[in-house]
Amino acid sequence: MAKTRLACVLTLLSTHCYFSVLAVVLKTNNESPWTNEFDRIELSCLIESISTPNPRIEWKKITNKGPSYVYFDGKISGDLENRAVIREPATLVITNATRSDTAKYRCEVTAAADQKSVDEILIDLVVRVKPVVPKCNVPKSVPFGKSAELSCMEEEGFPKSQYQWFKNKEEIPDDPKSSLKFFNSTYTLNANTGALKFIAVRKEDAGEYSCRAKNDAGYAECPPQKMEVYNIDVVGIVLGVLVVVVVLVCMTAGIYCAYKRGYFSSQKQTGNNYKVPAKGDGLDYVRTEDEGDFRHKSSFVI
Ligand SMILES: *[C@@H]1O[C@H](CO)[C@@H](O)[C@H](O)[C@H]1NC(C)=O
Ligand SMILES: *[C@@H]1O[C@H](CO)[C@@H](O)[C@H](O)[C@H]1NC(C)=O
Repeated sequence: MAKTRLACVLTLLSTHCYFSVLAVVLKTNNESPWTNEFDRIELSCLIESISTPNPRIEWKKITNKGPSYVYFDGKISGDLENRAVIREPATLVITNATRSDTAKYRCEVTAAADQKSVDEILIDLVVRVKPVVPKCNVPKSVPFGKSAELSCMEEEGFPKSQYQWFKNKEEIPDDPKSSLKFFNSTYTLNANTGALKFIAVRKEDAGEYSCRAKNDAGYAECPPQKMEVYNIDVVGIVLGVLVVVVVLVCMTAGIYCAYKRGYFSSQKQTGNNYKVPAKGDGLDYVRTEDEGDFRHKSSFVI
């Protein structure tokens, strides 16, 4: 009785074994690895089970333009040439990653002698790129109570940069209400676009502003730039307008007086001293032979 049971168990085990031996099975240590640009990264492709001695190993890079070969027929090809090696059994090692390596990669192993002869594994690689120094735009001076917009932008960073603003080296909180110091300021801060917008600037908003672009790979800052807040001088404007009005009044009065005293009428007389043309209307009537009627042409006699 016991003997048959043991035999049964052994049979079961060996059947199980038999099937797994005849299948190629892959696994990876990391399905979504990442690295910084110019660093090394491994796309691990491990063979868990196989019975074929020399399986065919291929790697493909899959972008939205479709798949392309990265490793084929024992050679690294495409844009990874000279930048990658295969480490036994099938791991792809990129020695100097670039931003264009961000893609999905598929490891495919074909084992002709196995019953389940093909397996593949998909790996999603992200190469992070440090932000470059952002372009910052800070208005030099803004009238008190008016709106103002500060901008900060860079486009190299991957993943996309987030932005922080600093005033006099101190970080500006996302929400002014969250800080005693900025409580009465009217700004809104957008960390995704880098825009810092004031609805109405106060005297206290004047200062040196700088911005930092950052992502998982690092950060970069633009140098501080000064923003001044000035008062629109109401008294000055009123005085200015008054001066203009007085000048206009004086000029009008002067012209009027001159006219009254006859400075302009004497000029009129000289204008009438021109010689009167011989014929009053300045036109000569000429007979044209072919048509037999009168045409006139102008002639000026001075
Ligand atoms: C990686 O590649 C970049 C340019 O593609 C090059 O400037 C850099 O020196 C390389 N780094 C290494 C360690 O080879
Ligand atoms: C904000 O404004 C209120 C009222 O105008 C004032 O009492 C308070 O001191 C101000 N707070 C700051 C931090 O300037």
